Amino acid sequence: MAEGRRQAWERQWEGRRGEDFHWYLTEPPKELVELLERADRPRGAALDLGCGNGVATALMAKHFDVAVGLDIALAATRQARELLAGRGVSGRFVVAEAPVLPFRDGAFGLLFDRGCLQAIPRDAWYGYFGEVERLLAPGGMLQLYVSRPDRRVSKLGSARGLKLRLRRLLGGTKARGPAFLSPALIRELMPPSLEELAVDRFQFETVTGATRQFFYGLFRKRS
Ligand SMILES: C[S@@+](CC[C@H](N)C(=O)[O-])C[C@H]1O[C@@H](n2cnc3c(N)ncnc32)[C@H](O)[C@@H]1O
Repeated sequence: MAEGRRQAWERQWEGRRGEDFHWYLTEPPKELVELLERADRPRGAALDLGCGNGVATALMAKHFDVAVGLDIALAATRQARELLAGRGVSGRFVVAEAPVLPFRDGAFGLLFDRGCLQAIPRDAWYGYFGEVERLLAPGGMLQLYVSRPDRRVSKLGSARGLKLRLRRLLGGTKARGPAFLSPALIRELMPPSLEELAVDRFQFETVTGATRQFFYGLFRKRS
């Protein structure tokens, strides 16, 4: 595990509650809710990659035999345990750094990732999709959300927007954050055994008033 990255996430989660992060959702995303209502929905065990404080894991715990939340930060999994207990469900939690995922081949019917892949260094993206292919049972699904700040519509009047503009003027923003995983790049990295069922792009207004561009995709491992 890369110690620096782990410690950085650990510090973030020790100092804040889930709802304090800009990506936070109080309820699971609608695409997950809709997927679980479908007749051909995945079954068996589900894995929430980069589970954070467990909002999606809690829903998965209601619908799967086993729901596992995995995060690089122990403090995130502690918050997730509390959240699941508060919602009257239970799950299992694992502290690990994707793309190294300590589970047997074909262990999961659903892999859910909202914001984990984009936090992984670029040279590990290929390995991530190799693990996705390995861990999914035949017919199993990957539900993937990747996001980045929307520079075109950043609220330049907001405090955050002003800070961003100032940093740009001072030449300090280029190296921040991972390179964007475009839909074309995701398709390139996706193993041929995974078929694309749906893709979408949408904007997300964060609690800080900034806008992020989201890429959403649903993929199924061929039987
Ligand atoms: C953008 S947040 C999203 C959290 C949650 N999925 C949500 O939608 O609210 C990304 C999460 O991934 C975790 N994370 C970052 N890098 C990771 C890695 N390499 N392996 C596992 N988890 C990671 C972070 O601690 C954080 O909880």
